[in-house]
Amino acid sequence: NLTSAEWAQEVRRLAKERDAVILAHNYQRPEIQDVADHTGDSLALSRLAASVDASTIVFCGVHFMAETAKILAPEKTVLIPDPEAGCSLADTITADDVRAWRAEHPGAVVVAYVNTTAAVKAETDVCCTSSNAADVIRSIPEDREILFLPDQFLGAHVKRVTGRDNIHVWMGECHVHAGIDGGTLRERAAAEPDAELYVHPECGCATSALYLAGSGAVPEERVKVLSTGGMLTAAEQTTADKVLIATETGMLHQLRAANPTTVFEPVNPRAECHYMKMITADKLLGALRDGSGEITVDEETAARARRSVERMIAIGS
Ligand code: 13P
Ligand code: SF4
Repeated sequence: NLTSAEWAQEVRRLAKERDAVILAHNYQRPEIQDVADHTGDSLALSRLAASVDASTIVFCGVHFMAETAKILAPEKTVLIPDPEAGCSLADTITADDVRAWRAEHPGAVVVAYVNTTAAVKAETDVCCTSSNAADVIRSIPEDREILFLPDQFLGAHVKRVTGRDNIHVWMGECHVHAGIDGGTLRERAAAEPDAELYVHPECGCATSALYLAGSGAVPEERVKVLSTGGMLTAAEQTTADKVLIATETGMLHQLRAANPTTVFEPVNPRAECHYMKMITADKLLGALRDGSGEITVDEETAARARRSVERMIAIGS
Protein backbone atom coordinates (compact mmCIF):
# COMPACT_ATOMS: atom_id res chain seq x y z
CA ASN A 1 0.00 0.00 0.00
CA LEU A 2 2.24 2.72 -1.29
CA THR A 3 1.27 6.40 -1.37
CA SER A 4 1.31 7.89 -4.87
CA ALA A 5 4.64 9.61 -4.18
CA GLU A 6 6.19 6.33 -2.94
CA TRP A 7 4.79 4.50 -5.97
CA ALA A 8 6.32 7.04 -8.36
CA GLN A 9 9.65 6.82 -6.56
CA GLU A 10 9.61 3.01 -6.73
CA VAL A 11 8.73 3.11 -10.46
CA ARG A 12 11.66 5.43 -11.14
CA ARG A 13 14.00 3.29 -9.03
CA LEU A 14 13.03 0.06 -10.78
CA ALA A 15 13.25 1.70 -14.21
CA LYS A 16 16.80 2.78 -13.46
CA GLU A 17 17.72 -0.67 -12.14
CA ARG A 18 16.35 -2.29 -15.32
CA ASP A 19 17.86 0.33 -17.68
CA ALA A 20 14.32 0.97 -18.87
CA VAL A 21 12.70 3.97 -20.49
CA ILE A 22 8.96 4.44 -19.86
CA LEU A 23 6.93 5.67 -22.86
CA ALA A 24 3.28 6.64 -22.38
CA HIS A 25 0.58 7.48 -24.90
CA ASN A 26 -1.44 10.68 -24.43
CA TYR A 27 -4.56 8.63 -23.47
CA GLN A 28 -2.94 6.92 -20.48
CA ARG A 29 -4.12 7.48 -16.89
CA PRO A 30 -2.73 10.77 -15.46
CA GLU A 31 -0.39 9.07 -12.95
CA ILE A 32 1.13 6.95 -15.73
CA GLN A 33 1.68 10.00 -17.97
CA ASP A 34 3.27 11.87 -15.07
CA VAL A 35 5.72 9.11 -14.13
CA ALA A 36 6.78 8.34 -17.74
CA ASP A 37 10.03 9.55 -19.31
CA HIS A 38 8.16 10.60 -22.46
CA THR A 39 4.52 11.02 -23.46
CA GLY A 40 3.33 11.50 -27.02
CA ASP A 41 1.20 10.42 -29.98
CA SER A 42 1.76 7.23 -31.97
CA LEU A 43 4.29 8.79 -34.34
CA ALA A 44 6.36 10.52 -31.65
CA LEU A 45 6.45 7.34 -29.54
CA SER A 46 7.53 5.22 -32.56
CA ARG A 47 10.34 7.66 -33.26
CA LEU A 48 11.42 7.55 -29.61
CA ALA A 49 11.34 3.75 -29.55
CA ALA A 50 13.73 3.72 -32.50
CA SER A 51 16.11 6.28 -31.00
CA VAL A 52 16.32 5.87 -27.19
CA ASP A 53 19.46 4.35 -25.63
CA ALA A 54 17.87 2.25 -22.86
CA SER A 55 18.01 -1.54 -23.31
CA THR A 56 14.35 -1.93 -22.23
CA ILE A 57 11.24 -0.02 -23.28
CA VAL A 58 8.21 -0.19 -21.01
CA PHE A 59 5.36 0.81 -23.29
CA CYS A 60 2.30 2.24 -21.55
CA GLY A 61 -0.24 2.14 -24.33
CA VAL A 62 -2.06 -0.56 -26.32
CA HIS A 63 -0.62 -3.73 -27.81
CA PHE A 64 -0.13 -2.55 -31.42
CA MET A 65 1.91 0.42 -30.16
CA ALA A 66 4.24 -1.81 -28.11
CA GLU A 67 4.52 -4.15 -31.12
CA THR A 68 5.49 -1.20 -33.34
CA ALA A 69 8.20 -0.29 -30.81
CA LYS A 70 9.52 -3.89 -30.95
CA ILE A 71 9.49 -3.86 -34.77
CA LEU A 72 11.58 -0.66 -34.78
CA ALA A 73 13.89 -1.72 -31.96
CA PRO A 74 14.26 -5.51 -32.29
CA GLU A 75 17.40 -5.61 -30.14
CA LYS A 76 15.56 -4.05 -27.18
CA THR A 77 13.31 -5.75 -24.66
CA VAL A 78 9.81 -4.25 -24.97
CA LEU A 79 7.40 -4.75 -22.06
CA ILE A 80 3.71 -3.83 -21.91
CA PRO A 81 2.19 -3.75 -18.40
CA ASP A 82 -0.95 -5.54 -19.66
CA PRO A 83 -0.62 -7.56 -22.89
CA GLU A 84 -4.44 -7.77 -23.10
CA ALA A 85 -4.69 -4.03 -23.83
CA GLY A 86 -6.00 -4.29 -27.39
CA CYS A 87 -7.64 -1.92 -29.88
CA SER A 88 -11.10 -2.25 -31.43
CA LEU A 89 -9.87 -0.56 -34.61
CA ALA A 90 -6.86 -2.89 -35.05
CA ASP A 91 -9.31 -5.81 -34.60
CA THR A 92 -11.30 -4.81 -37.71
CA ILE A 93 -8.80 -6.29 -40.18
CA THR A 94 -6.62 -9.41 -40.48
CA ALA A 95 -3.60 -10.25 -42.64
CA ASP A 96 -5.86 -12.54 -44.74
CA ASP A 97 -8.26 -9.63 -45.31
CA VAL A 98 -5.39 -7.47 -46.63
CA ARG A 99 -4.15 -10.21 -48.98
CA ALA A 100 -7.67 -10.72 -50.35
CA TRP A 101 -8.26 -6.97 -50.79
CA ARG A 102 -4.93 -6.51 -52.57
CA ALA A 103 -5.75 -9.40 -54.91
CA GLU A 104 -8.89 -7.48 -55.97
CA HIS A 105 -6.78 -4.38 -56.78
CA PRO A 106 -3.52 -5.51 -58.34
CA GLY A 107 -1.00 -2.65 -58.56
CA ALA A 108 -2.57 -0.63 -55.74
CA VAL A 109 -0.42 0.82 -52.95
CA VAL A 110 -1.57 -0.40 -49.53
CA VAL A 111 -1.41 2.27 -46.80
CA ALA A 112 -1.97 1.12 -43.22
CA TYR A 113 -2.72 3.25 -40.21
CA VAL A 114 -0.38 2.17 -37.38
CA ASN A 115 -3.44 0.95 -35.45
CA THR A 116 -2.92 -2.54 -36.93
CA THR A 117 -1.22 -5.76 -35.82
CA ALA A 118 2.33 -6.61 -36.93
CA ALA A 119 0.87 -9.37 -39.14
CA VAL A 120 -1.30 -6.79 -40.97
CA LYS A 121 1.57 -4.28 -41.29
CA ALA A 122 3.66 -7.04 -42.88
CA GLU A 123 1.13 -7.18 -45.77
CA THR A 124 1.23 -3.43 -46.45
CA ASP A 125 3.47 -1.00 -48.36
CA VAL A 126 3.63 1.99 -46.04
CA CYS A 127 2.22 2.96 -42.65
CA CYS A 128 0.85 6.28 -41.47
CA THR A 129 -0.42 7.82 -38.25
CA SER A 130 -3.05 10.50 -37.77
CA SER A 131 -0.34 13.18 -37.83
CA ASN A 132 1.21 12.27 -41.19
CA ALA A 133 -1.53 10.40 -43.12
CA ALA A 134 -2.00 13.16 -45.72
CA ASP A 135 1.80 13.49 -46.27
CA VAL A 136 2.09 9.73 -46.77
CA ILE A 137 -0.72 9.81 -49.36
CA ARG A 138 0.90 12.80 -51.15
CA SER A 139 4.19 10.84 -51.37
CA ILE A 140 2.45 8.28 -53.62
CA PRO A 141 2.28 9.09 -57.37
CA GLU A 142 -1.16 10.49 -58.26
CA ASP A 143 -1.95 7.82 -60.83
CA ARG A 144 -1.53 4.93 -58.35
CA GLU A 145 -4.64 3.45 -56.83
CA ILE A 146 -4.51 3.38 -53.00
CA LEU A 147 -6.03 0.97 -50.49
CA PHE A 148 -6.30 2.74 -47.14
CA LEU A 149 -6.93 0.70 -43.99
CA PRO A 150 -8.48 0.18 -41.49
CA ASP A 151 -10.16 3.44 -40.33
CA GLN A 152 -13.05 4.74 -42.45
CA PHE A 153 -13.15 8.21 -40.83
CA LEU A 154 -9.41 8.86 -41.16
CA GLY A 155 -9.69 7.48 -44.71
CA ALA A 156 -12.50 9.90 -45.56
CA HIS A 157 -10.48 12.71 -44.01
CA VAL A 158 -7.35 12.06 -46.10
CA LYS A 159 -9.47 11.75 -49.24
CA ARG A 160 -10.90 15.19 -48.49
CA VAL A 161 -7.65 16.95 -47.68
CA THR A 162 -5.64 15.41 -50.53
CA GLY A 163 -8.51 15.68 -53.05
CA ARG A 164 -7.61 12.21 -54.39
CA ASP A 165 -10.51 10.09 -55.58
CA ASN A 166 -8.55 6.89 -56.29
CA ILE A 167 -8.42 5.89 -52.60
CA HIS A 168 -10.44 2.85 -51.47
CA VAL A 169 -11.15 2.87 -47.75
CA TRP A 170 -11.58 -0.13 -45.41
CA MET A 171 -14.75 0.32 -43.32
CA GLY A 172 -13.19 -0.16 -39.87
CA GLU A 173 -13.69 2.17 -36.94
CA CYS A 174 -12.60 2.75 -33.35
CA HIS A 175 -15.61 2.35 -31.04
CA VAL A 176 -14.49 5.30 -28.87
CA HIS A 177 -14.02 7.83 -31.68
CA ALA A 178 -16.94 6.60 -33.79
CA GLY A 179 -19.08 7.39 -30.71
CA ILE A 180 -18.16 11.09 -30.91
CA ASP A 181 -20.78 11.81 -33.55
CA GLY A 182 -21.69 14.79 -35.71
CA GLY A 183 -24.96 15.54 -33.87
CA THR A 184 -23.17 15.92 -30.52
CA LEU A 185 -20.44 18.08 -32.05
CA ARG A 186 -22.97 20.37 -33.77
CA GLU A 187 -24.92 20.76 -30.51
CA ARG A 188 -21.82 21.59 -28.46
CA ALA A 189 -20.52 24.02 -31.10
CA ALA A 190 -23.91 25.79 -31.22
CA ALA A 191 -23.97 26.13 -27.41
CA GLU A 192 -20.37 27.44 -27.31
CA PRO A 193 -20.17 29.70 -30.39
CA ASP A 194 -16.78 31.19 -29.43
CA ALA A 195 -15.00 27.94 -28.60
CA GLU A 196 -12.34 26.36 -30.80
CA LEU A 197 -12.82 22.72 -31.86
CA TYR A 198 -9.96 20.19 -31.92
CA VAL A 199 -11.11 16.98 -33.57
CA HIS A 200 -9.20 13.70 -33.95
CA PRO A 201 -9.60 12.38 -37.53
CA GLU A 202 -10.78 8.97 -36.22
CA CYS A 203 -13.96 10.64 -34.92
CA GLY A 204 -17.36 9.97 -36.43
CA CYS A 205 -17.76 13.78 -36.38
CA ALA A 206 -14.61 14.62 -38.41
CA THR A 207 -16.73 15.21 -41.53
CA SER A 208 -19.20 17.39 -39.56
CA ALA A 209 -16.30 19.43 -38.18
CA LEU A 210 -15.08 20.32 -41.64
CA TYR A 211 -18.66 20.94 -42.74
CA LEU A 212 -19.15 23.37 -39.82
CA ALA A 213 -16.00 25.21 -40.92
CA GLY A 214 -16.80 25.06 -44.64
CA SER A 215 -20.37 26.32 -44.20
CA GLY A 216 -19.27 29.20 -41.99
CA ALA A 217 -21.33 27.89 -39.02
CA VAL A 218 -18.04 28.03 -37.07
CA PRO A 219 -15.22 30.29 -38.37
CA GLU A 220 -12.77 28.10 -40.28
CA GLU A 221 -9.75 29.08 -38.17
CA ARG A 222 -11.47 27.71 -35.06
CA VAL A 223 -11.81 24.15 -36.38
CA LYS A 224 -8.72 21.93 -36.35
CA VAL A 225 -8.49 18.23 -37.25
CA LEU A 226 -5.40 17.00 -35.37
CA SER A 227 -3.54 14.01 -33.97
CA THR A 228 -3.18 13.95 -30.19
CA GLY A 229 0.34 15.42 -30.51
CA GLY A 230 -1.02 18.13 -32.82
CA MET A 231 -3.68 19.00 -30.22
CA LEU A 232 -0.99 19.54 -27.62
CA THR A 233 0.99 21.90 -29.85
CA ALA A 234 -2.19 23.83 -30.73
CA ALA A 235 -3.14 24.02 -27.03
CA GLU A 236 0.23 25.54 -26.14
CA GLN A 237 -0.34 28.30 -28.70
CA THR A 238 -4.04 29.11 -28.43
CA THR A 239 -5.42 32.26 -26.80
CA ALA A 240 -9.05 30.98 -26.90
CA ASP A 241 -11.06 31.00 -23.66
CA LYS A 242 -12.44 27.55 -24.39
CA VAL A 243 -11.58 24.60 -26.63
CA LEU A 244 -13.91 21.63 -27.20
CA ILE A 245 -11.97 18.38 -27.55
CA ALA A 246 -13.22 15.51 -29.71
CA THR A 247 -11.04 12.54 -28.77
CA GLU A 248 -10.43 10.09 -25.92
CA THR A 249 -10.74 11.95 -22.59
CA GLY A 250 -7.23 10.98 -21.34
CA MET A 251 -5.97 13.74 -23.63
CA LEU A 252 -7.40 16.42 -21.34
CA HIS A 253 -4.72 15.84 -18.68
CA GLN A 254 -1.91 17.00 -20.98
CA LEU A 255 -3.92 19.82 -22.58
CA ARG A 256 -4.88 21.34 -19.22
CA ALA A 257 -1.29 21.13 -17.97
CA ALA A 258 0.05 22.73 -21.17
CA ASN A 259 -2.27 25.73 -20.99
CA PRO A 260 -3.90 26.52 -17.63
CA THR A 261 -5.58 29.74 -18.87
CA THR A 262 -7.73 28.05 -21.54
CA VAL A 263 -10.65 25.78 -20.54
CA PHE A 264 -10.56 22.39 -22.31
CA GLU A 265 -13.80 20.39 -22.34
CA PRO A 266 -14.61 17.04 -23.94
CA VAL A 267 -17.25 16.98 -26.71
CA ASN A 268 -18.27 13.57 -25.33
CA PRO A 269 -17.20 12.99 -21.70
CA ARG A 270 -17.94 9.26 -22.04
CA ALA A 271 -15.32 8.80 -24.79
CA GLU A 272 -12.96 6.62 -22.77
CA CYS A 273 -10.82 3.81 -24.19
CA HIS A 274 -10.98 0.98 -21.67
CA TYR A 275 -7.98 -0.67 -23.37
CA MET A 276 -5.79 2.35 -22.67
CA LYS A 277 -7.01 2.40 -19.06
CA MET A 278 -6.00 -1.27 -18.56
CA ILE A 279 -2.48 0.02 -17.88
CA THR A 280 -2.69 0.75 -14.16
CA ALA A 281 -0.20 1.90 -11.52
CA ASP A 282 0.03 -1.63 -10.06
CA LYS A 283 0.57 -3.29 -13.45
CA LEU A 284 3.33 -0.82 -14.38
CA LEU A 285 5.09 -1.62 -11.11
CA GLY A 286 4.64 -5.36 -11.73
CA ALA A 287 6.14 -5.17 -15.23
CA LEU A 288 9.16 -3.25 -13.95
CA ARG A 289 9.65 -5.60 -11.02
CA ASP A 290 9.20 -8.92 -12.85
CA GLY A 291 10.03 -8.07 -16.45
CA SER A 292 6.59 -9.44 -17.38
CA GLY A 293 4.53 -8.66 -20.47
CA GLU A 294 7.35 -9.04 -22.98
CA ILE A 295 6.38 -8.38 -26.60
CA THR A 296 7.66 -10.76 -29.25
CA VAL A 297 7.21 -10.55 -33.02
CA ASP A 298 8.53 -13.37 -35.21
CA GLU A 299 11.51 -12.29 -37.26
CA GLU A 300 10.02 -12.68 -40.72
CA THR A 301 6.84 -10.75 -39.84
CA ALA A 302 8.89 -8.07 -38.08
CA ALA A 303 11.21 -7.61 -41.07
CA ARG A 304 8.28 -7.17 -43.49
CA ALA A 305 6.38 -4.87 -41.12
CA ARG A 306 9.54 -2.83 -40.46
CA ARG A 307 9.84 -1.86 -44.15
CA SER A 308 6.36 -0.37 -44.00
CA VAL A 309 6.91 1.51 -40.71
CA GLU A 310 10.38 2.77 -41.72
CA ARG A 311 9.03 4.09 -45.03
CA MET A 312 6.56 6.15 -43.02
CA ILE A 313 9.25 7.48 -40.67
CA ALA A 314 11.40 8.48 -43.66
CA ILE A 315 8.50 10.53 -45.13
CA GLY A 316 8.34 12.68 -41.97
CA SER A 317 5.33 14.31 -40.43
P1 13P B 1 -2.55 9.48 -32.12
O1 13P B 1 -1.48 8.97 -33.04
O2 13P B 1 -3.18 10.75 -32.63
O3 13P B 1 -2.02 9.63 -30.74
O4 13P B 1 -3.75 8.44 -32.07
C1 13P B 1 -3.62 7.13 -31.58
C2 13P B 1 -4.90 6.45 -31.31
O5 13P B 1 -4.99 5.32 -30.92
C3 13P B 1 -6.10 7.20 -31.53
O6 13P B 1 -7.16 6.50 -31.03
FE1 SF4 C 1 -7.80 1.78 -30.42
FE2 SF4 C 1 -9.73 3.55 -30.27
FE3 SF4 C 1 -8.48 2.85 -28.07
FE4 SF4 C 1 -7.20 4.37 -29.92
S1 SF4 C 1 -8.97 4.95 -28.68
S2 SF4 C 1 -6.39 2.58 -28.87
S3 SF4 C 1 -8.10 3.53 -31.80
S4 SF4 C 1 -9.75 1.50 -29.35
